[in-house]
Amino acid sequence: MSHLRIENVTKKYGVNTVLQNINLEINKGEFLCVLGPSGCGKTTLLRVLAGLENIETGGVYINNKDVTVMPPAKRNFGIVFQSYALFPNLTVYQNIAYGLSQKKNTKNEIREKVEDIIKIVNLTGHEGKYPQQLSGGQQQRVALARAIVLDPEFLLLDEPLSALDAKVRMKLRREVKNLQKRLGITTIMVTHDQEEALSMADRIVVMNNAIIEQVGIPEEIYEMPRTNFVADFIGTVNFLDGSNYAIRPENVALDSKGEISGKIIDIEYRGAFYRLLVDSRRGLLTVDVKADVRKRIKFEQGLNVFVNIPMENVISFNREAISA
Ligand SMILES: Nc1ncnc2c1ncn2[C@@H]1O[C@H](COP(=O)(O)OP(=O)(O)O)[C@@H](O)[C@H]1O
Ligand SMILES: [Mg+2]
Repeated sequence: MSHLRIENVTKKYGVNTVLQNINLEINKGEFLCVLGPSGCGKTTLLRVLAGLENIETGGVYINNKDVTVMPPAKRNFGIVFQSYALFPNLTVYQNIAYGLSQKKNTKNEIREKVEDIIKIVNLTGHEGKYPQQLSGGQQQRVALARAIVLDPEFLLLDEPLSALDAKVRMKLRREVKNLQKRLGITTIMVTHDQEEALSMADRIVVMNNAIIEQVGIPEEIYEMPRTNFVADFIGTVNFLDGSNYAIRPENVALDSKGEISGKIIDIEYRGAFYRLLVDSRRGLLTVDVKADVRKRIKFEQGLNVFVNIPMENVISFNREAISA
């Protein structure tokens, strides 16, 4: 049974359609990532789920019960936004306890719950600090703690990691995912970062321009994109033959027996691999070659080479976006 479902939801701001006929189901305990470029409607979708927006048509259902007009406070969502939005004049402990004290808990209950959560999110020793004394990663952990201490039925995360630097972001990705699995909270996270979605999600919803382009597990989204948009937005892709077909750079092979001749016009070193730009009769091809291949093939700019496009790795687009 779906835990949370939206059906035929359309949302407009004035004449602007921001969500167009959106249908989506989320299962209990699932980690769903909503991925799409800035302005495509991700935050609005979260706000609709949380009851913070009126919708023109359609409905929102929790455990199959229609909650479309239920006020936000009754829906039991924990929400974490990109900006930490902590109370600057309250300590870590007080920030996390704040919501509990609004809910008629005894002092002892509050202390027990807050201490529990502080351990869970690795903030032990920081209880007495104020937000400005914490790093960005620590502040975001407080924001997360503040949401989950209330034991919400759903967790909504709106780009919670995007303000953090790369190292901290990677670490928190793992922490958030482990925490979500451990607590089993049905979670929807919005992100514009494909790597974040691929590495964290049970399922990914790819949005573009108010519609859903595709829903699937990360491997499906990457290996079998339904549309040009999905193929192009997630990872890098070479479009072939008027965009009806495509191939990922890591699947194009430098191969002396390859059928396509071309000339290397650019080489970028990427650490684990080299990214070559090859001018061929199939157009400009981006070709990723594992770094150790250079020990065997001395490729360099200007060199004529042969490449092979294995049929089994070619992606074809003959389908439409899911909700168009
Ligand atoms: N309160 C608002 N009033 C008018 N337009 C809005 C409002 N909020 C968002 N929008 C517009 O709706 C579209 C989707 O916004 P949003 O859901 O915030 O996108 P995302 O989170 O994917 O970046 C954008 O074009 C944005 O400008
Ligand atoms: Mg947003």
